Parts: sequence; C-alpha cells; structure tokens
Amino acid sequence: MPEDFTIRAAVQSDGSFLGDMVVEAANWRGRSPRARHEILTSVEHRRYIAGWMRPADAGFVAVDSDDRPIGAAWYRMLPPSDPGLGFVETAVPELIIGVQPIWRAHGAGRALLRRLLSRAREQGHRRLSLSVERDNFARTLYRSEGFVVTHALPDRDTMVHRLS
Ligand SMILES: CC(C)(COP(=O)(O)OP(=O)(O)OC[C@H]1O[C@@H](n2cnc3c(N)ncnc32)[C@H](O)[C@@H]1OP(=O)(O)O)[C@@H](O)C(=O)NCCC(=O)NCCS
Repeated sequence: MPEDFTIRAAVQSDGSFLGDMVVEAANWRGRSPRARHEILTSVEHRRYIAGWMRPADAGFVAVDSDDRPIGAAWYRMLPPSDPGLGFVETAVPELIIGVQPIWRAHGAGRALLRRLLSRAREQGHRRLSLSVERDNFARTLYRSEGFVVTHALPDRDTMVHRLS
C-alpha cells in the first residue's frame, strides 16, 4: 500500500523516469500495452522527452519515502514544425503527466499538476495546453484544475489552462 509522497523539481537525470511516465500516458487504457521502446521512438511520443532537459522545460517528480520516483508532470515548448498532440500556438508549453499504477488515486497527480501550474505562472507563461483522449478520466482532473476544452477531435480533446 503506498505511503506518503513528496514532490521535488525535476532534474536532468530524471529523463529515464519521465520516459516511463510517457509510456504510462500512452498505455493509460492498460489493455494491449505497447512496448516502452516502441512508444519512446514513435514520432507521436518521443518529442515529449527527447533531449530532456532543455532550458524551457520544467517539471516536478513525486517521490516515495525512499526517494523513489512515483509520478511526474512536466511541460515543454514544442515548435510548430514538430507540434505535440496538444499544440495550440508557439510559446504555449504542452503538459505531460503520469503516475505509476500502484500510486494512482492517492492525490499525486493533482499535487503534481498544481505545482506545475504554479511554476508556469512564475515563469510568466500565459497558457498551458495538453491533449487527452475523451474517455480518459484524467480529463475530469484537468477540468477540475481549470483546463477547458478548446479543440475537439473525434476521440480526443485539446485543453488549455489560462494562467493570467
Ligand atoms: C491521470 C493520472 C496522472 C492522475 O494521477 P492520480 O495520482 O491518479 O490522480 P489523483 O489521485 O490526484 O486523483 C485526481 C482525481 O481523479 C480521480 N481519480 C483517480 N483515479 C481515478 C479513476 N481510476 N477513475 C476515476 N477517477 C479517478 C480522483 O478521485 C481525484 O479526484 P478527487 O480529488 O476529486 O478525488 C494517473 O491516473 C495516470 O498516470 N494515469 C495514466 C496515465 C495518463 O492517463 N496520463 C494522462 C494522459 S493525458
């Protein structure tokens, strides 16, 4: 049973764990999970972690009482030439979040999201965006933290949080 977690700023050496969280996000349904290597080399997902950590990247990692990472949320600025699924506009960072399965529904996701929103404000960003599949309950979490749907595709939504 998970115990307490704490949250710290993400650093360059967290790259591998953040890759794990990209895999969790890609495999959120839990059914027929795709292999880590396949996900992290795919055009769709590699942009969220390749070259971590760049100057404009920011993130937080939740760690257990033994300092083992259990979840992470981060954002990065993706160019219009290589947009993410939730790309809105140049200079609007895109958010990625994942929590290890055993730790889900213990508050880590919401805590990570709040820390990241607060960092984005401190850094002067006016908006953060993300992309979420319509049937992922994470959508409800995002909505409850102030994200609104700005663009709808048949199976997924782009959501944006206005920070100012
Ligand atoms: C989405 C995710 C990051 C949320 O992190 P988490 O630590 O589980 O979230 P929290 O514990 O902070 O819960 C946030 C809210 O979601 C609700 N929730 C948690 N698990 C849930 C579930 N399985 N079904 C429905 N609601 C759920 C909680 O009740 C909570 O709401 P509350 O505060 O009103 O009780 C995590 O579940 C995850 O990694 N999922 C797989 C990867 C993923 O889908 N990433 C997002 C891709 S867009």
